[in-house]
Amino acid sequence: MAEGHRRPVEYKRANPGDDLTTGMIAAKDEDGSRLSDSEMIGTLHLLLGAGSETLVNGLAHATLALLDDQALREKVTNGEIPWEEVFEETLRVESPVGHLPFRFATEDLEIGGVRMAKGDVILVDFAGIGRDPAIHGDTADVFDPLRADKRHLSFGFGAHYCLGVSLAKLAWMIGIPALFERYPDMRLAVPRDELVGQGSFVVNGHSDQPVYLRG
Ligand code: HEM
Repeated sequence: MAEGHRRPVEYKRANPGDDLTTGMIAAKDEDGSRLSDSEMIGTLHLLLGAGSETLVNGLAHATLALLDDQALREKVTNGEIPWEEVFEETLRVESPVGHLPFRFATEDLEIGGVRMAKGDVILVDFAGIGRDPAIHGDTADVFDPLRADKRHLSFGFGAHYCLGVSLAKLAWMIGIPALFERYPDMRLAVPRDELVGQGSFVVNGHSDQPVYLRG
């Protein structure tokens, strides 16, 4: 492992604080078998990678949905539609993770009439479920926080279900209402169709989303 990668751990070992890295170091030092330095660095990388761009894009998608629709924005900011419904609907319509390569079948299986042999590569479409007309009907593509069924797979499923769900929701529920409360005249600074996607099939977001904060 490159020396530079160890620095955050060495720093926190010398300067413990009330934070995750310090907690992980304490767990390791109490019982040397828990995490090696290299596993600890890997975990910190995972948390940063999994927890930053996903959250940024989730916040940006929600902002855009409200900037796109003045009537909806008013209903949400005046309390008629709860913020939590906007949170779930944003995740349903614009899953910040599109696909995540890869899964491998551990046995022969058949799902929805599709056969997979043991060892086959499987790509799960996290984003597709939320827009599936078989689940959400003809209006699956329409952003409607008041729809009853907002089922989605945007935080994954099963053993690898997102570790950061609560943190993501907390950041969202604090950040988005505060943004719209503080900048009630915020609007997009470019025409909507000039927003450019990130060009990734893993990450779903725009490369930039410029706004005028004050009218
Ligand atoms: C809106 C925000 C977020 C979205 C949409 C999201 C989405 C996901 C998805 C789809 C997975 C499943 C990956 C898989 O099945 O392989 C996942 C896993 C994970 N997420 Fe998130 N995530 C978000 C925020 C966060 C945050 C804030 C953190 C932590 C700070 C985080 C940490 C993780 C970790 C560590 C995993 C791996 C869990 C495992 O493999 O056991 N995520 N996330």
